[in-house]
Amino acid sequence: MPPIAAKFVELYGAQPDVIASAPGRVNLIGEHVDFLDGFVLPFAISDVTTVAIAKNSSNSIRVASLQKASEISVVERSKLEPLSGEPWTRYPIGVLWALEIDSGLDILIDGQVPLGAGLSSSAALECAVATAVNELFKLNLPLPTLARAAQKGENIYVGMPCGIMDQSVSLMAKQGHALLLDTRDLSTEQIPFDIAPHHLELLVIDTQVHHALVDGGYAERRASCEKAVSDLGITSLRDISLTDFVLRKSELDATTYARAFHGVTEMQRVLDAVELLKSADFRGFGKIVSAAHISLRDNYTVSAPELDLAVTTALEFGALGARMIGGGFGGSAIALVSAQDAELVRLQITSSFSAAKFRAPRFFSPLPSSGARITDLTTPH
Ligand code: GLA
Repeated sequence: MPPIAAKFVELYGAQPDVIASAPGRVNLIGEHVDFLDGFVLPFAISDVTTVAIAKNSSNSIRVASLQKASEISVVERSKLEPLSGEPWTRYPIGVLWALEIDSGLDILIDGQVPLGAGLSSSAALECAVATAVNELFKLNLPLPTLARAAQKGENIYVGMPCGIMDQSVSLMAKQGHALLLDTRDLSTEQIPFDIAPHHLELLVIDTQVHHALVDGGYAERRASCEKAVSDLGITSLRDISLTDFVLRKSELDATTYARAFHGVTEMQRVLDAVELLKSADFRGFGKIVSAAHISLRDNYTVSAPELDLAVTTALEFGALGARMIGGGFGGSAIALVSAQDAELVRLQITSSFSAAKFRAPRFFSPLPSSGARITDLTTPH
């Protein structure tokens, strides 16, 4: 029996019906464009959140987490209301609400994706729940529909107006690949991302500055991009060329222009980055990654001093490219480094953080891993 199943039995007095896991993600490029019909290029990491669930015959949903001392939080099904209940329970319950699951349920969560590190622990939890209930209730929903349901739960039930990138990659990722996702129609292309044979390593630098995206900075910037679309009278920032956008600068206030400029240029950077990856031009790819950071820092203004220091130090010590990832205001940065420089870059970032009196950073070197999966309970563990 997998360890989470034994815990489930201890807590709820019955076996789980389904166990499902879903990963967090690292985004190579395409930041803050997944609510603008843009392209994004994330990959799934090997850290997953696992949920064990079973139907219960009551009218309530019981949720517990191994990371919360397994205290059970109980919500009456008739009282499911967006923005209600303990904040951490809104992520799993929001998915049940979005999928209109009409049954009592017991849920136990084991979240192994680092929280607040910009690695999308929230989408991992949502997608593990979505995958589990899809199986338990034989919903047979395709992955894009599950991704949309998880996003709806987060947008409305949690109150965070996120895009569709994190849920999509958590569900659709393929080992050894980054996922080129068109967030307009959720069509995908799997792009091989196997850098070890090129003697390269992708470092993730967790600044340990914890961000809470529900805070407002994310929503405010999203609203600026939507204002640009409406002020310009276009359907989407995807549908305007950079030349036309720049020509129409006077129609937008300065902040709206700068934020939307990020969106328009970032979409193109993703397409350029994919071409460079396909031709194994990692130097060119790295330059685009670094350009994305400058735009996130200066145009979209979602960086943080710790992220900027991680990026500049990595570049100074030989990284081919580096940038902040995810929502920003903290969380993680990535740096593409030659394998032989990786240790030096880690040491230099650690010492520059210490000199700046920042918290010590953590480092990971994640490999592109597969998306959500069900644990087969019939085979011995
Ligand atoms: C968060 C959101 C995503 C995406 C990124 C920024 O991770 O959940 O939808 O917008 O920020 O690219």
